Amino acid sequence: MKKNVVALSIAAMLVAVSGQAISADQELNIYSARHYQTDDALYSEFTAQTGIKVNRIEARDDELLERLRNEGTNSPADVFIAVDAARLTAAGELDLFAPIDSETLAARIPEHLRTDTWIAFSQRARVIVYNPELVDGALVQTYEALADPALRGKVCTRSGSHPYNLSLGAALMNQIGAEATEEWAKGIVANFARPPRGGDTDQIRGVAAGECGVAIANSYYFVRLMNSDKPEDQQVIEAVRYVWPNQETWGTHVNVSGAGMLKNAPNKEAAKKFLEYLASDQAQIYFADGNNEWPAVPGVKADNPALESLGEFKADTTPLQQLSANIAEAQRIYDRAGYR
Ligand SMILES: [Fe+2]
Repeated sequence: MKKNVVALSIAAMLVAVSGQAISADQELNIYSARHYQTDDALYSEFTAQTGIKVNRIEARDDELLERLRNEGTNSPADVFIAVDAARLTAAGELDLFAPIDSETLAARIPEHLRTDTWIAFSQRARVIVYNPELVDGALVQTYEALADPALRGKVCTRSGSHPYNLSLGAALMNQIGAEATEEWAKGIVANFARPPRGGDTDQIRGVAAGECGVAIANSYYFVRLMNSDKPEDQQVIEAVRYVWPNQETWGTHVNVSGAGMLKNAPNKEAAKKFLEYLASDQAQIYFADGNNEWPAVPGVKADNPALESLGEFKADTTPLQQLSANIAEAQRIYDRAGYR
């Protein structure tokens, strides 16, 4: 059923794109692998400001990439949006993006949060969560510490192949080197409380339940539980503590949601306008707050008390371009280490 709807709207987009009645600048086609309630306001505000109609196809990132590959030069898509550098890197490796050429974006988005082809619009931190009844907080202050034999049988993470962990591995490679990252991955595997399964929230729940002593999770999953009205979620938050990893060394690994203009975009001007709009103060707040993330543009503050209550932290500023270049090797390192 859902497939039919998507197929229909693709057909509608193709008609719109090839039709004579609509000039290229009045429409924008977005393929997005992220969807949050507040994103609706994000898109309607863009239309209100520019008069450009936004058509959205939302699906999983791998489905969208497959679609883009199949559509090739006939693709109606102008912009691709995804979460996590590893997924944006996958799009980059398929040579789907156009190079970025925008003074506005160069001025608004910090250099380390831009690559040649895609740009970060919000930031999330990969934090450590532990159960203070099972683990001494002093032992879990860095990513590296999670591989220490002192934590045998205590560590939970989702799959090593998941983009979030691949990006973390890519950051570790940059900071401690590929060899040390492989040793680290072996140490993590040796310390597992259970084989990787589930998402980041499942790891946090596992920590609260005492099945795991310590876990790695993206910050917004933690904030989502904080903001939840459900008593069982509040119990989880009460049972766990979070750590900003590596504050004394290279900083907490930060990942991103981002977007890029597609090489075959039929509406390049509209796409550029949209990417620049995403860097505006208002759009930054919509975009980041939709998933309890931090804006990418310095100085923009979302009104999110739970997020603010986490406080400030030192972030790793490894350039995304560098992180992106390490992803494939991070996967090979994890494979060798048995981090599946
Ligand atoms: Fe996520």
